[in-house]
Amino acid sequence: MSASVGAQKQARSVLVTGGNRGIGLAIAKAFLANGDKVAVTFRSASELPEGILGVQADVTDAASIDAAFTEVEAAHGPVEVLVANAGITKDTLLMRMSEDDFTSVVDTNLTGAFRVIKRASKGMIRMRKGRVVLISSVVGLYGSPGQINYAASKAGLVGIARSLTRELGSRGITANVVAPGFISTDMTAALPEETQKQYLSTIPAGRFASAEEVADVVRWISSDEAAYISGAVIPVDGGLGMGH
Ligand SMILES: NC(=O)c1ccc[n+]([C@@H]2O[C@H](COP(=O)([O-])OP(=O)(O)OC[C@H]3O[C@@H](n4cnc5c(N)ncnc54)[C@H](OP(=O)(O)O)[C@@H]3O)[C@@H](O)[C@H]2O)c1
Repeated sequence: MSASVGAQKQARSVLVTGGNRGIGLAIAKAFLANGDKVAVTFRSASELPEGILGVQADVTDAASIDAAFTEVEAAHGPVEVLVANAGITKDTLLMRMSEDDFTSVVDTNLTGAFRVIKRASKGMIRMRKGRVVLISSVVGLYGSPGQINYAASKAGLVGIARSLTRELGSRGITANVVAPGFISTDMTAALPEETQKQYLSTIPAGRFASAEEVADVVRWISSDEAAYISGAVIPVDGGLGMGH
């Protein structure tokens, strides 16, 4: 029997960026149900379930991230589990994609993740433990027309997780990528019905997933059971991206 079985589990300080709605909120709820101390970042005022601490932050602004971390550390202690979830899309075909369409998506999805990881790493290195989970997308490795900006930002997260694993893997810190397929949230509800039908026809599972199905995988990859998994890309996509 494992030595940890039956041992009292310590509540960890968990921070989820963009956790006021969608997949981020489902992830925050999963950690809360697990007995952890959970904080989420939000940009504008939001109503959060009881037990979740909301801190205002914009991932494109390093100073606001620093302030949010300071607030979380004061309330819950150093962040041991960081979920870089905040993300945006600005879909359009290459010929119509402006440089701003490209750089603004990369600044939020990729540089935003770099900013929060850099801030969180200080505490994790000191504690000699930590879990970093980067919410990517199936399109990061599969590609998608009209999403050159988004796919580039999501593919970049794999490079971050793998390099972080090589830098900090010996200090009890893991970094993994979770790559959702089509999940029912505000982001996907905004897609035209015809596009949604097209996606559905290509998913082997024959359905879209709920945000909770992504949240359960994030909770598990952040658990003690997953301590020896790092630098992995874990698909939660009903088989859509197999082999990519
Ligand atoms: N839905 C899908 O099918 C799907 C599939 C694959 C991957 N993903 C990824 O999963 C993550 C969550 O997606 P979702 O569907 O839950 O999206 P969503 O419902 O649109 O929520 C996006 C979240 O990100 C936050 N956010 C955006 N820009 C931010 C910024 N500059 N600073 C701080 N927070 C910011 C939003 O905050 P506000 O409320 O303030 O706007 C919101 O909390 C994203 O990274 C997305 O790319 C989603």
